[in-house]
Amino acid sequence: MMNAIGFLGNSTMRPSKCLLRAFTRLSPSRDTAFQSHHSRCINQNINNQDPYRITKLRNVAQFCTNRPSSVTTQVASEARNLSASRTCTKDPTLDKIISKNGLNVKPLTIERLEEDEKDEEVVNGDVRNIDKDGLENVRRKEIEEEAWRLLRQSVVTYCDSPVGTMAANDPTDTAPLNYDQVFVRDFVPSALAFLMKGEGEIVRNFLLYTLQLQSWEKTVDCYSPGQGLMPASFKVRTSPLEEDKFEEVLDPDFGESAIGRVAPVDSGLWWIILLRAYGKITGDYSLQERVDVQTGIKMIANLCLADGFDMFPTLLVTDGSCMIDRRMGIHGHPLEIQALFYSALRSSREMITINDSSKNLVRTINNRLSAISFHIRENYWVDKGKINEIYRYKTEEYSTDATNKFNIYPDQVSPWLMDWIPESHRCGFLVGNLQPAHMDFRFFTLGNLWSIISSLGTPKQNQAILNLIEEKWDDLIGHMPLKICFPALESSEWHIITGSDPKNTPWSYHNGGSWPTLLWQFTLACMKMGRPELAAKAVTLAEKRLQADRWPEYYDTRYGKFIGKKSRLYQTWTIAGFLTAKQLLQNPEMASSLFWEEDFELLETCVCVLTKSGRKSCSRAAAKSQILI
Ligand code: GLC
Repeated sequence: MMNAIGFLGNSTMRPSKCLLRAFTRLSPSRDTAFQSHHSRCINQNINNQDPYRITKLRNVAQFCTNRPSSVTTQVASEARNLSASRTCTKDPTLDKIISKNGLNVKPLTIERLEEDEKDEEVVNGDVRNIDKDGLENVRRKEIEEEAWRLLRQSVVTYCDSPVGTMAANDPTDTAPLNYDQVFVRDFVPSALAFLMKGEGEIVRNFLLYTLQLQSWEKTVDCYSPGQGLMPASFKVRTSPLEEDKFEEVLDPDFGESAIGRVAPVDSGLWWIILLRAYGKITGDYSLQERVDVQTGIKMIANLCLADGFDMFPTLLVTDGSCMIDRRMGIHGHPLEIQALFYSALRSSREMITINDSSKNLVRTINNRLSAISFHIRENYWVDKGKINEIYRYKTEEYSTDATNKFNIYPDQVSPWLMDWIPESHRCGFLVGNLQPAHMDFRFFTLGNLWSIISSLGTPKQNQAILNLIEEKWDDLIGHMPLKICFPALESSEWHIITGSDPKNTPWSYHNGGSWPTLLWQFTLACMKMGRPELAAKAVTLAEKRLQADRWPEYYDTRYGKFIGKKSRLYQTWTIAGFLTAKQLLQNPEMASSLFWEEDFELLETCVCVLTKSGRKSCSRAAAKSQILI
């Protein structure tokens, strides 16, 4: 196979030509244990301990000049067909995506009983309840059964093994776009539901196959993103071989096809978090100990920890690099990425085998963890008192001990926030983003929930976030848990920040829509903080509508009353999120294996002290004192 560098060398001399290498072979890794292994067959070793990463080759290297796009597409698809993979003989009539039980899902519809039908019986003029609880329980059980059936029907297989669940599985949807793919982030609640049911195989396969995809070299318009990047999603394609044989190909999307070409920064973080969860729930730690899996963890960690121009310990990303994968003004240091980053680093720290070659990385991870928590606890936290402080900030302070370190102009404290923030100091939250002269005060749910789950926030902050959600129940939960962010961007803000995105209109989709998949994360956060009743209340609310509404992806309007304008139905992470939330509530022990308590060792490790360039505001004592606030 011709070397990709050779191609690139040529093409750079002729600027009119663009090298379009969709997927080419692996570059040698920085890790010596991980060498490029030019195998055409990828499957047979997946469950064996293999000192080499099993890789898939795709001999796709094309030049495009001014060719019509149809030609390019044809070349691309021919090249894709050349891709190597294990060949499985398939029935040619099978659909392109192989769904375990077929795509023709006919949902079980359970008619809602009218109030008067279900509750009461008149006996000699008296009205009395006939086992209301019994009926409720039957209905609940039926909903759960339907959810399990739908979840199983969304399972995608690759060479007869289950490898993930497709994002949505609506048989009536004629234009699924990429919702027929397995998204890494969407699979997490499915994985947890399966794990808690004792079905680990699909999760193990998913972790190992996505690991193979990680090692591909990928290119977006002549540029390769960093090694270690995990795809946003993948699809199992079938392509014909000779006679009646078909081969199946795992086809990842690293952002090169995604709308807006967004980088799936969160995918690798979720992968690490899921890998830890797999070990915790199954007790099978041998998976995370494998050399190839260890290499995968290190590659993601190295990519995230690489030096750049950053002034902050938080991860610098472009807009739309997480669940909110469209322009929503979350470029820079959005909380969601930071909370997942922190969780992934805490997971990595537990899983990386310490030896001479890994000890520096572990040290870097420890230092970064303590720096991130210090930075977030100190600078992202707001409650009424802090907002009042910002409202009275002096600006343009030039000094190392400025109070207003980020030069936030008090006018950024908008009227909605002053009205909205509860009086009580028992309520507060972590703001959505922080950069020079920019504090995004919107409440982003996923980031706040993962700050609780991972103990990124202090114990008091974590409790205060839940207090705020309880206090602002109508705004953040309303008719359907939970708002993805609050409040929505409206008018000129919507025009400027979203670029007039018609999908993200105010109180819709990512812009203040309500996403039932957040329910499982809310449940985990509540259980960690000893408030399961709060989660149960939200689950009951969701249960009332999800099945009847056909498991929508998201809801619209200020209080989440309507099924979203463009919402998919039979959205898998809605179904799985609901099931996972219920299972967590039933299995507190499993839940407790998934969250993290405060780590006092991390608080001891203050980077500023270690590097001897510490400032007054970042000392060991200051770090320690944070657990008290
Ligand atoms: C949308 C969501 C994204 C999700 C994907 C598949 O793009 O914004 O978070 O992963 O759909 O469900």
